[in-house]
Amino acid sequence: VPATAQGGGAPAGDDVIVLGEVGALTGGQATFGISSRNGIALALKEANAAGGVKGKKLVVRVYDDQSKPEEAAQAVTRLITQDKVVLILGEVASSSSLAMAEKAQAAGVPMITPSSTNPTVTEKGDNIFRVCFIDPFQGFVMAKFARENLKLNKVAVLQDNKSAYSIGLTEVFRQKFAELGGKITVTESYSQGDTDYRAQLTAIKKTQPEGIYVPGYYSEVGVIARQARELGLKVPLMGGDGWDSEKLFELGGSAIDGSYFSNHYSPDNPDERVKKFIADYKADYNGAVPDALAALAYDAARVAIDALKRAPDTSGPALREAIAQTKDFPGVAGVITLDAKRNAVKSAVVLKVADGKSTYVTTIAP
Ligand code: PHE
Repeated sequence: VPATAQGGGAPAGDDVIVLGEVGALTGGQATFGISSRNGIALALKEANAAGGVKGKKLVVRVYDDQSKPEEAAQAVTRLITQDKVVLILGEVASSSSLAMAEKAQAAGVPMITPSSTNPTVTEKGDNIFRVCFIDPFQGFVMAKFARENLKLNKVAVLQDNKSAYSIGLTEVFRQKFAELGGKITVTESYSQGDTDYRAQLTAIKKTQPEGIYVPGYYSEVGVIARQARELGLKVPLMGGDGWDSEKLFELGGSAIDGSYFSNHYSPDNPDERVKKFIADYKADYNGAVPDALAALAYDAARVAIDALKRAPDTSGPALREAIAQTKDFPGVAGVITLDAKRNAVKSAVVLKVADGKSTYVTTIAP
């Protein structure tokens, strides 16, 4: 039985510990879910090869939420009531994690999101954790980079008004950029899934910005980049972790060149632990280089496994307590110590997009 089976596929029984996973395996955020699934499967494979946990093998039940928060919430209900999982990993998109957290918290089942950065996710309750930084920091990172490195004075913002992540990052960026002496010329909005952004981009162009902050997901950002260039907007685009996908280059082509985004991890990191992770991941996934989603999901699964080992039993309260005590855990996307609000405090990297890839520019510490 593969460690990663679709919901209902993996065996229950006394010889296994069953974890749950919810991710976007299809839809506009599909690369997020697929990378995360790969990272989690690698962590479980390694743990099982090393003997499992408490004498049992680990298995994970995975549900595809099709990039929809309502589906993500339903998947959590199924994982808890039917599959009787001890813990849930997911989601990537903050809007989906928010919908899931509600259910997991109510049932007392611990949930760890690898990569949702909206601060309100872990505020849903004491069973909800994350292994990544949060958006008040991520928004500051790009505001600082725009002011101090790119020396921009006037920036426009284009937000996704269907995404808690995008709305949150917009708010922080606007505030921090202004605090650092910059001016926001205008804030325009689109809805996830839109395909024509010309009206908003035309309005943005009129304000003559020196850069445009687009804190969205890759499916939309790639198209936005093309349409911006077609309308003669040549200034750099800037974004957050939601840009991290191979598909960004496919959709954006050369229009995305010269843009920057903040992220959790760079595969250029020369650290031995990171190098080993990249080599192991490539070996399992046809030479694919792991993105931040894969790295964070791998870390989230390893934090979960570490807590399972330390907890006296696999009940919700015991696991919750063990996860909360995570300290100095050596992740591939940074060292993880969970604070009183169940968040990790970590550095961010800024990456530059050019020639169909993103390259490391700088690290910004909290
Ligand atoms: N931080 C994003 C969110 O909260 C998700 C994401 C993380 C996307 C990392 C790509 C890379 O919605």
